Parts: sequence; structure tokens; C-alpha cells
Amino acid sequence: MPPCPIKGNIFAVGAVDWDRRLFDALIPLPDGTSYNAYLIKGSQKTALLDTVDPTKADVLFENLKGVERIDYVIAHHAEQDHSGCLPAVLSRAPMAQVVCSTKAKGMLIDHLHLDASKITAVEDGATLSLGDVTLEFAHTPWVHWPETMSTFAREPKILFSCDFFGSHLAQSDLFVKDEEHVYEAAKRYFAEIMMPFRSSIKRNLERIKDFPVEMIAPSHGPIHSRPAFILDAYRDWVGDRPKNSAVIPYVTMHGSTELLVERLVAALAERGVTAWPFNIAEGDIGKLAIALVDAATIVIGSPTVHVGLHPKIAYAAFLANALRPRAKFAAVIGSYGWATKMAEQVLSLTPHLKLEVLPGVVVKGMPRSEDFAAVERLADLIAAKHGDLNLR
Ligand code: FEO
Repeated sequence: MPPCPIKGNIFAVGAVDWDRRLFDALIPLPDGTSYNAYLIKGSQKTALLDTVDPTKADVLFENLKGVERIDYVIAHHAEQDHSGCLPAVLSRAPMAQVVCSTKAKGMLIDHLHLDASKITAVEDGATLSLGDVTLEFAHTPWVHWPETMSTFAREPKILFSCDFFGSHLAQSDLFVKDEEHVYEAAKRYFAEIMMPFRSSIKRNLERIKDFPVEMIAPSHGPIHSRPAFILDAYRDWVGDRPKNSAVIPYVTMHGSTELLVERLVAALAERGVTAWPFNIAEGDIGKLAIALVDAATIVIGSPTVHVGLHPKIAYAAFLANALRPRAKFAAVIGSYGWATKMAEQVLSLTPHLKLEVLPGVVVKGMPRSEDFAAVERLADLIAAKHGDLNLR
């Protein structure tokens, strides 16, 4: 396949991975992904921006067939899905110099055993001329690792952002066509990859805001020819105010916890609070992550296993703690047979979440009418707390 032009002498040379279903042995990829790499043929020099996952090296090299010379390889991020083919690229283009952030240099040496003499580290704001195209490097740490950077190509006004603004979305179109579809994938990506670093993402949005960007070309998913779409979404997601919604990850063994969850969902809906129940035993953990982007309240529902927490809920709590969502309130609901320390265990697993803990509802056996009344009171309290913050 010949390289696909995206603007002037700039080409997409990466690979679509339609079949990948798991990333980092953790993140579900229901829509596959892509590893986007770009080639800029300047009037004097040629630069390759990122490579691809090593599993797709053949696609990259097929796309680069006929390219006579690569002078620079811009490595925005040391993670292997973008830099994993650097050794192979350098063996085919021995004159090429790898250009990366100061922090990335050591990481590329550690992860890929690159020769230090092949790597040029650039400071934030440094520029590199390819002739008729000038690259300006912007350090954008923590999108997703600490060494990440972005490149603004000044004359074509394209921001090459690597993981920043990406989405795990395999599609045949190079550009975003259906914004609603891409929004869901980009939000999932933000939730799973970016949300723990919201403060850094905010700073990075400030860092790039003066670039007159006409196109954002990330390293996963489609290219944004309308940057405002994804920039506005990110500004919303990194804000401090959650939405008037509650997410309820739960597991049920014999139905008691599920009865409480069902009553809570209905009671919250009656009070105008959007509720998102997720049965962790069967659900897609990515959907839970998406709901965590917006939720003001997290209600964890668990039965008791050997006096403690159900292990699948322990996993969900651990994940929520790692993702550091902007939720403000938490509660625990669930059940037990003879004794339980489940609620205390849940809260001990979420030290990163600065949550006000509301009185929960933990019942012995099957819930009775008074237990459902307690659930209604919990819904009252959640609605009141959200109202106090004027959440929408
Ligand atoms: Fe797509 Fe953090 O690598």
C-alpha cells in the first residue's frame, strides 16, 4: 500500500490493528486500534514521526518502500507501540538520528538498547528545520508516560500529539468522519490512559493552546481535521466538576446485592441523578472507566466472601483508585451471611480518591423493606450532595 497523504508532503505510514483486543494485558480494545506513524518529506530533510508496534513492522516497512532517506526519527514516546520498531528503522536507515525529549533518551536506551550516539535529546520549545517545514517540539509529560512530547509542524499547522488526543479505534478512514463514534472511543482512551494525570493534561492543554493548529494527528485512531472537537472534549474531561451522575460497580452472588443496586438505580433516577450500574463479573471494564470520567458519586456494591470483599470488586476498586477520577462522594452497599468487613476493605483500597464517604447499606441476607428504605435515604443524600454542588 502506498503511503497515504494527509497534507502536502506529509504521509500516514502506520498500521491499523483490527484484531487486537487487549492492551498492556489489561485494557480491553473492543474496536481494535492503530499505530499511526507519519512521514514528512521536507524540501531538505525527511523525518519519520514515531514507528509502530513491532507486531506491525512489516506494514511500516511496506509503507516506507521507496523512501530513499530518513534523516530524523521523532520519538514522541518510548512505549513500544510507537518506538518498538526504532532498532529496525535504524538498521535500515543508519544515518538517521532519533530525536526525543531529554527524559525519553534514557528510557529509549533502557527499553530498546539504542546506541546513545544515535539519539538527540531536545529541550521544550526547540525547533528542527526540514527545509520548508519547521518542527517545534513541546514537552507534554504524562500523556501517557513522563517523557512524552508533541511536535507542532508550523507551516502545515499540524500537531503530532502521539497518545495525547488518541483513541483505540481501528478504521479504514484516516480522518474523523463520525464524531459521535470517535467521541466514545476517545473518552474510553482518556479514561484508561490519561485520567490519572488530569493535572498534567490541563497544563499540557495550556502548553499547546497558542499553536495555530488546523489538524491534530495522534498516534492512535483517526486524525482530527476539526481540532476543536477533541480539544473541547479534553477541556471538559479534565475539569474539576463532575456531572450529576453516579456509577455503581457491583457483583452479586445470590441476588441480594443486585436487589439493592436495582432499587438504588431507580431511586436515583427518580431524583434526577443519572445512574450507571456495572456488573463487574460480566461487564467491560472500559465502560466502567468511561462512566468514572463523569461520575460525582461512586457506589460500590459487593457481597461478602469469607467475611471480606468479593475479589472482582477488589479489582474494580483498585482500578478506580489507579484511575483517580474526579468523583466527590462514595458509598458502599452489599450483603453478608454472618459477618462482614467488606465496607472497610473497599475504602482501604481507594486511598488516592479524595471522597466524602456517605452512609452505606450493608444487609444481612436478603434485603427487607427497611433496607430498601435505607437505600432510598442514600439516594436522597446523593441527590442533595449533587444539588449542593449544582452539578448538571
Ligand atoms: Fe500508545 Fe503510551 O503508547
